[in-house]
Amino acid sequence: MIGHRRPTVLLVDDERSTLEILSIVLKSQGFETTQELDAGRASRLIEQAAARDRPFDAVVTDVFFDGRDEGAAVLAACRDTSPRSIVILMTGQPAVDGAVAAMKMGARDYLQKPVDPNMLATVLHRALKEQQIHREDVSFKDLVNILSDMVAHTIERVDPYTAGHGERTRSYCRQIAEQLGIDRQTIERLELAAIAHDYGKIYLEDLNFLTKKGPLTAQEYRAVQRHPEVGANKLGSNAHLVEACTYIAEHHERWDGTGYPRRLKGSAVSPAGRILCLVEVFDSLTSRRSYKAPWDLEKTIDFFESQSGRAFEPETLDVFLRLLEKNGPEWLNAPKKDLENAGIYPEKG
Ligand SMILES: [Fe+2]
Repeated sequence: MIGHRRPTVLLVDDERSTLEILSIVLKSQGFETTQELDAGRASRLIEQAAARDRPFDAVVTDVFFDGRDEGAAVLAACRDTSPRSIVILMTGQPAVDGAVAAMKMGARDYLQKPVDPNMLATVLHRALKEQQIHREDVSFKDLVNILSDMVAHTIERVDPYTAGHGERTRSYCRQIAEQLGIDRQTIERLELAAIAHDYGKIYLEDLNFLTKKGPLTAQEYRAVQRHPEVGANKLGSNAHLVEACTYIAEHHERWDGTGYPRRLKGSAVSPAGRILCLVEVFDSLTSRRSYKAPWDLEKTIDFFESQSGRAFEPETLDVFLRLLEKNGPEWLNAPKKDLENAGIYPEKG
């Protein structure tokens, strides 16, 4: 429910039977639906609803109509007249290609055809919940849940090996920040940044870089290096996330100025940003990725000790190393446990 009304959904597909089935299930799950067989007429309905100041809460559209790619026009009508409407595409393409195409076109999500109506209802409920991020009275807990959902259904879906990375980063950041005596409000903002720090990766031109086995080319690496600022720009338009986005933008900078994208040096990076930089490296090194095995504790400690005053600020690093001494085995085992919980069983090696 949105206030006291049922969320409105425009369903667009050139097959009447598909529209009927989706509509029956969505209505039974609390949505109000409008069905449209023709993409051109759907665009006009979207414009008219916006003109009456009652835009559809969501538009679910097929991509190909009679073999013609008209879904893009429906999406464009939404972008132009009802930017807050959630657009879900129904595509026949395989999962990752579908995700790339949908996100590039500005859709919130995509579903592979034939679409399971219950899955669509779940996706819509989740997307509507994500919209609450814009509400003035949204709580810290709501923001945590919304951002976690957004990451789980974008980055973690494209690269399943990152399952739990945001949540672990959040936990370690909070523990270091508490030890450093950082105030509660800053810690909460840091936690939000930790959850969503890699969100900008979903806007890369080619998401295949994220799961590439072996090193990236120089050109691919330059593209990947844009993700801190892209993520910060995308999320930073939200008033609740402005400070968190500063830390997101900083999360690959280094104390000695060798990081990216701005090569910020020393205290030019905020104290919270410095914590996120360090923790992000730790969790990446000790997790399996498509291109590498996880590091063991000894190698990890040697590396971080060698980086005091170089990649990482000494005081933050000291606090981190003390926590690592206490929690090392548990923290190193956490990525494997999270993969298993996500139903992924990492190969040995
Ligand atoms: Fe990153």
